[in-house]
Amino acid sequence: MTATICGTGSYIPSYTMDNNDIARLVETSDEWIRERTGVARRHIIQDETTVSMAAEAARRALNDAGVSPEEVDLIIVSTISSNVILPCAACEVQKELGAVHATCFDLSAACTGFVLAYNTALAYLTSGVYRTALLIGSESLSNLTNWKDRGTCILFGDGAGAAVLRSDDVAGTEMFPIYDPGKYFLPVTHSEGAKGGALTCKSRHDFNGLTGEKHQACQDHQADAESMLDESHYMQMDGQAVFKFAVKKVPEVIGEVLKLNQVAPEEIDYYIMHQANKRIVEAVAKRLDEPMEKFPMNLQEYGNTSSASIPILLDELNREGKLKPGQKLVLAGFGAGLTWGASIIEWH
Ligand code: ACO
Repeated sequence: MTATICGTGSYIPSYTMDNNDIARLVETSDEWIRERTGVARRHIIQDETTVSMAAEAARRALNDAGVSPEEVDLIIVSTISSNVILPCAACEVQKELGAVHATCFDLSAACTGFVLAYNTALAYLTSGVYRTALLIGSESLSNLTNWKDRGTCILFGDGAGAAVLRSDDVAGTEMFPIYDPGKYFLPVTHSEGAKGGALTCKSRHDFNGLTGEKHQACQDHQADAESMLDESHYMQMDGQAVFKFAVKKVPEVIGEVLKLNQVAPEEIDYYIMHQANKRIVEAVAKRLDEPMEKFPMNLQEYGNTSSASIPILLDELNREGKLKPGQKLVLAGFGAGLTWGASIIEWH
């Protein structure tokens, strides 16, 4: 039993901020941002939420797959920026879609989240537990961005992407509890919590209603909601540390996943990398000694949308007709945690 992606979708907010808009908020320039990151503009939510974008991306993916909401057995939403804590975003999406038979949960692994959501769903599907999964990455990073910090606010954007993953067999008829070589590709993933300080964002719910212990800013009773937050409640990043981590670990993990599955780099048609920085993508291509044509990018238009970036890019390639049956793709994510990983997929 194996499983393939049979449909993709995405939702991008229509409101945009280009680099000149950012230069009106912090001391920076269009030239600096383009040169150091490759980003030209980013799309930012207005009326949208993480859940509404996730639901619309999912609707489009189901439509592309020709799968009805009632056929979905599993919904995983990967997000670090949901507008709801309870119920989880995946349950909210289920409600929006009417996917009444689905089991739903969220997954939090920042920019590696979509790769981990794919791996999780693949494990369920290839073991025969479920047949049809809806995987969504949706982020409203503008809510977590410190718009006064030029080291981070130049990078991020909002959006959602989704994919439908389907096994080629009816759930429960055939079980493969042991890996069956040739049926599907094994992923490689890593985490290093000890280095998590490189990219952090504190919860906004870090005060205790019972003991009354609140973070410092909350102790001022006159403070309005906004001033109750300090810098630690927005994303804080050691940019150079994340950069160095990415250019070392991403080529390594791609090498590991190719070796593990005995796939040669020449057999890979596209490397669908998390879209964080053009220089990171270029450095990974160079270290792998693979041509840039195999590394599609859209970060110039959307910035870094964390767990949404891989499914948005996948959906764009799919809609442009660039993905053909039998092609092999590598999905590679990296980010806060620190976490990183790569998976090989064969296009349907
Ligand atoms: N505009 C102008 N100047 C700036 C800006 C800016 N926006 N930001 C920093 N600078 C200045 C710095 O102050 C510094 O000046 P100095 O030399 O006088 O001290 C100089 O530019 C160089 O700063 P660096 O931080 O060394 O710049 P760098 O080339 O590393 O670029 C960047 C910064 C773009 C953040 C880069 O480090 C990067 O992309 N890192 C990876 C970030 C990333 O991918 N994060 C996401 C991970 S995914 C996730 O989990 C969400």
